[in-house]
Amino acid sequence: MERTIKDQMTLHNGVTMPEHGFGVYKMTDKSELETAVHKALEFGYRSFDTAQMYQNETILGEILHNGPVTRKELFITTKINNSSQGYDQSLFTFEESLNDLQLSQLDLLLVHWPSEKHFFETWRAFERLYEEKMVRAIGVCNFQIHHLEKLKTKANIMPMVNQIEIHPYMTQKELRGYLQEENIAAEAWGPLARGMVLTDETIVEIAKRLQKTPAQIVLRWHLQNRSIFIPKSSTPIRIEENTNIYDFELSAEDMARIDSLNKNHRTGPNPDEIYPTI
Ligand SMILES: NC(=O)c1ccc[n+]([C@@H]2O[C@H](COP(=O)([O-])OP(=O)(O)OC[C@H]3O[C@@H](n4cnc5c(N)ncnc54)[C@H](OP(=O)(O)O)[C@@H]3O)[C@@H](O)[C@H]2O)c1
Repeated sequence: MERTIKDQMTLHNGVTMPEHGFGVYKMTDKSELETAVHKALEFGYRSFDTAQMYQNETILGEILHNGPVTRKELFITTKINNSSQGYDQSLFTFEESLNDLQLSQLDLLLVHWPSEKHFFETWRAFERLYEEKMVRAIGVCNFQIHHLEKLKTKANIMPMVNQIEIHPYMTQKELRGYLQEENIAAEAWGPLARGMVLTDETIVEIAKRLQKTPAQIVLRWHLQNRSIFIPKSSTPIRIEENTNIYDFELSAEDMARIDSLNKNHRTGPNPDEIYPTI
């Protein structure tokens, strides 16, 4: 069946979420964010990924609230900051995020990083927010298998999503296999490895042969891997470019060649190193 930017992933609680979303990390300037969000909406994006840490929930909320697309069509994700973990703090700062985003209900709330100290208490707050229907889905970010196994010992509701660093240099084969078995959707952050993989000679060769750009090859690889992926760009022409991935297909051979580029290289922190410090 033909794929489009409207394609949805069904989470384990039945809620659907766009597979191809838009990340807004590092965009704190209102006019920059406004231009980017309007371009993204124009080219079909409906899912927006922010975080308390990004310090742009207020401007994102304002832009979307006054934008051309109705609330019902949008899917909005935010994340509880590391410094706001724990039961009371999570509940309190969630309320602030909801107000800042001008929402009465959030689509997806994520724990930003695993924290040894607040591990179960943050999740207990998330379960409460889910049960009270303040959020349609709850999940985590940067959880390794052992974090999820630990969560399982006490959780009443397991995460619907684990947002992790995934790109051709960090393919996360083992963790993705585990997530699939556990019916937790894998969401790729840093899907372009923040630009690092775009000069890789294998990616460049495939791009030239298929007359696409390196970014389009990498995003198509995510799409065919059935991950949720959320590229960020504040450049209008790239925002459009990143949506033009639905008119070609990567062969099994090209998919395997991109898989083989893995070198377990992270562009962000290692969750196991952050875990005891939060
Ligand atoms: N949960 C977590 O811990 C976590 C961590 C990091 C990120 N995230 C989320 O994931 C989103 C995406 O990750 P990311 O922003 O770190 O990295 P990314 O999407 O892999 O890469 C963004 C970088 O690639 C550039 N770029 C985008 N499209 C391009 C294209 N077609 N050609 C060339 N360069 C292009 C952008 O430049 P320009 O903007 O200048 O165009 C930007 O420098 C974030 O925005 C955030 O929402 C989550």
